[in-house]
Amino acid sequence: MTERSNQASSITTSLPPWRALLKGARAREGRQPSARWLQLATMGLDGTPRVRTLVFRGWHGGDLLELYTDTRSAKFEELLQQPQVELCWLLPKAKQQYRLRGTWMRQAQISNAQSWQSLSPQGRALWGWPAPGQPLEREADFPEELDDTVAIPENFLVLQLQIHRAELLDLTRHPHQRILWCRDDAWREQQLNP
Ligand SMILES: Cc1cc2nc3c(=O)[nH]c(=O)nc-3n(C[C@H](O)[C@H](O)[C@H](O)COP(=O)(O)O)c2cc1C
Repeated sequence: MTERSNQASSITTSLPPWRALLKGARAREGRQPSARWLQLATMGLDGTPRVRTLVFRGWHGGDLLELYTDTRSAKFEELLQQPQVELCWLLPKAKQQYRLRGTWMRQAQISNAQSWQSLSPQGRALWGWPAPGQPLEREADFPEELDDTVAIPENFLVLQLQIHRAELLDLTRHPHQRILWCRDDAWREQQLNP
């Protein structure tokens, strides 16, 4: 086996197969900020569903997806009670929808400092705003920027979600294609009716 094919096979064994498809679909979106927007669904404290948009921040290894959020937000309490989540990621140019199920890895060792530094001053500012979802107070301060000399706020949270199930719906062909991969099944591809 050549060095080149060795490298290729080690990449394919370490990355779940749907990751390459998702990467291709994201690439088709170009520099659109919306290519990084996905929907995170959690279970509300009363057992009813909650969903909201977050920015995809990157992968850690093959199947840990990273998001940044605020520990003062409702979703944090929800995740403490129910760490199972579903993500929905629409890539419109590729006409693909990815539905990813995962588990919040609460004990994960995360470099908050690196993540905090990776944000722009405007991006960081949100963690300096008053608690999200609380009644607006007229006198409250909403900074426009937080520069990187500001210490990492305690409410800054890097969420690592371990993905254990991925489903793709691809609308580009007739008939549409629907594919399921499960971690427990070594990410074997299973074709489903669309
Ligand atoms: C385009 C877009 C990107 C967003 N990105 C994030 C994000 O990365 N992290 C986050 O916590 N909230 C983000 N939000 C705000 C959330 O949608 C939501 O309003 C907030 O997190 C409070 O949600 P909760 O009350 O359900 O916890 C984003 C909203 C939009 C519209």
